[in-house]
Amino acid sequence: MSKILVLYYSSYGHVERMARAQAEGASRIPGTHVSVKRVPELAPPDIVAAAGFHVDQPAPLAEPQELADYDAILFGTPTRFGNMASQMRNFLDQTGNLWARNAMVGKIGSVFCSTASQHGGQETTLTSFHTTLLHLGMVIVGLPYTCRELVTMREITGGTPYGATCITGSGGDARMPSALELDMCRFQGEHVGLRNPIVRLGPDWIDIHESHTEADRDGGQNVGQMRERGAAIHRVIEPGAGGEPEVAVPTVDPLR
Ligand SMILES: Cc1cc2nc3c(=O)[nH]c(=O)nc-3n(C[C@H](O)[C@H](O)[C@H](O)COP(=O)(O)O)c2cc1C
Repeated sequence: MSKILVLYYSSYGHVERMARAQAEGASRIPGTHVSVKRVPELAPPDIVAAAGFHVDQPAPLAEPQELADYDAILFGTPTRFGNMASQMRNFLDQTGNLWARNAMVGKIGSVFCSTASQHGGQETTLTSFHTTLLHLGMVIVGLPYTCRELVTMREITGGTPYGATCITGSGGDARMPSALELDMCRFQGEHVGLRNPIVRLGPDWIDIHESHTEADRDGGQNVGQMRERGAAIHRVIEPGAGGEPEVAVPTVDPLR
């Protein structure tokens, strides 16, 4: 069973709604268990009340250390001045010991976000978020153009190749994520599920991956690597009797 987490912060419910749609998409992949959790609020209660934040969100709070328990994580955040929200930043800044023990290396990471305005920093929010995930050793997955609606001109919509987005508008133009924006979220969630090596390759991949991370820990005495070349998966397995790596290729083509 593969485990996917949709982890989000949302003040007004847009990213919360997007997170649910991401989870719906990820849940389409058989053998996948999907959880939706949120990061803690940091704003003082008087600010939260004065600003009308939605405080009744049913998703449970996540603990930073639990990120290591998932195979893939979809992160959702509203834009704050072209960056992720400080609530999410604070949460990620508590993952230092996951970084120190390479606990996130090789896991899938994907990001979605919302902005108030059309050109208010969606791409900068997504790509600057990716920097943190890359430091953690995660493998970034976006929203590919096989999601045909990325190029639609029929309506004003969010949606980028870096991840799904929504435009909330403001004042009289305020809106919740549109049907199209939510479809893109479902697409991204499903895409992340499909890219997840454990889903694609089965438990065998876990052995290879464990071997690889174990090799990292013991200074590289073991050789265990998985490389993807186009559609074919090639395996480099443990050194044989002669001390040379045995190479078995290709074991599986997950894209067919
Ligand atoms: C401090 C602050 C900074 C913001 N910065 C931006 C911004 O740079 N660009 C933008 O379009 N919207 C900006 N917004 C609007 C939020 O992105 C918007 O309220 C959010 O996407 C709504 O998502 P939510 O309902 O999940 O909280 C900002 C909001 C706040 C409170």
